[in-house]
Amino acid sequence: MANQPSPLTPDSGRLRRKLERGNRPYVTLKAASTLDGRIATRSGASKWITGPDARGHAHRLRAGHDGILVGIETVIVDDPRLTARLPDRVESPARVVLDSKARIRPDARMLAEDGVRRMVVTGNAVPERRAAALRLRGVEVLTCSTARPEPAEYLPMLRAAGLATLLVEGGARVHENLIAHGEADELFLYVAPSLIGDHAAPGWCGQLGVERLEDSPRLAFEPPQAIGEDILLHAFFQ
Ligand SMILES: NC(=O)c1ccc[n+]([C@@H]2O[C@H](COP(=O)([O-])OP(=O)(O)OC[C@H]3O[C@@H](n4cnc5c(N)ncnc54)[C@H](OP(=O)(O)O)[C@@H]3O)[C@@H](O)[C@H]2O)c1
Repeated sequence: MANQPSPLTPDSGRLRRKLERGNRPYVTLKAASTLDGRIATRSGASKWITGPDARGHAHRLRAGHDGILVGIETVIVDDPRLTARLPDRVESPARVVLDSKARIRPDARMLAEDGVRRMVVTGNAVPERRAAALRLRGVEVLTCSTARPEPAEYLPMLRAAGLATLLVEGGARVHENLIAHGEADELFLYVAPSLIGDHAAPGWCGQLGVERLEDSPRLAFEPPQAIGEDILLHAFFQ
């Protein structure tokens, strides 16, 4: 059984090809959405869109990755722990936030000092005082050369830091940015049988703004899976 590929880890053949090809991590997007693709209400409420079974599945998904990445707005709004709370997991995935100016609060839960690597990816105008305070707490600060970290730079940085697989848990803008740059490899979308129905509520892929259908990013579906009352859509970007 030990050599069987886990359904919760990136497809091994595709992963191998990606790793051979590039200096970037294999990038998997993950979100919990309503049936109309929303990941939060307009006021930012997102707990809980999907049920406990889907959330448990998502925890196991985390454990199969080297790093979990989110945008700073998700940290500010949700204050996630970003832990893979599994008893048999030897090493927990690193926790990474894209945060141009190091706005993250020192007491953010993802920065908890629990022996797991924590990384803040900043832009080039990060106040040195904030970067120094983070480093003092053992947080790795990766500074990009542009005002905002862009995938072409921060992905190779994360790969060089040892992260070969990355689970990107949003929010909308981070997903949008990775898809727009063609840097998303795989998707796990947990879809709840509910609706928000509000243009002002963020969708899982942000504002891609596709005008012509032929420009629409394409994915290939795996068979859908029912998880509790929700459905898991697993797909590969083409
Ligand atoms: N249901 C779910 O699965 C789920 C998951 C996650 C989040 N959410 C919800 O999503 C909402 C937050 O999403 P959001 O779209 O507002 O914010 P987000 O994607 O979490 O964070 C966006 C921010 O990240 C920073 N950033 C740095 N580099 C970036 C880059 N290359 N691309 C994009 N952003 C970059 C920017 O802030 P700076 O300029 O300051 O760096 C940007 O404003 C919350 O309501 C949260 O509850 C839901």
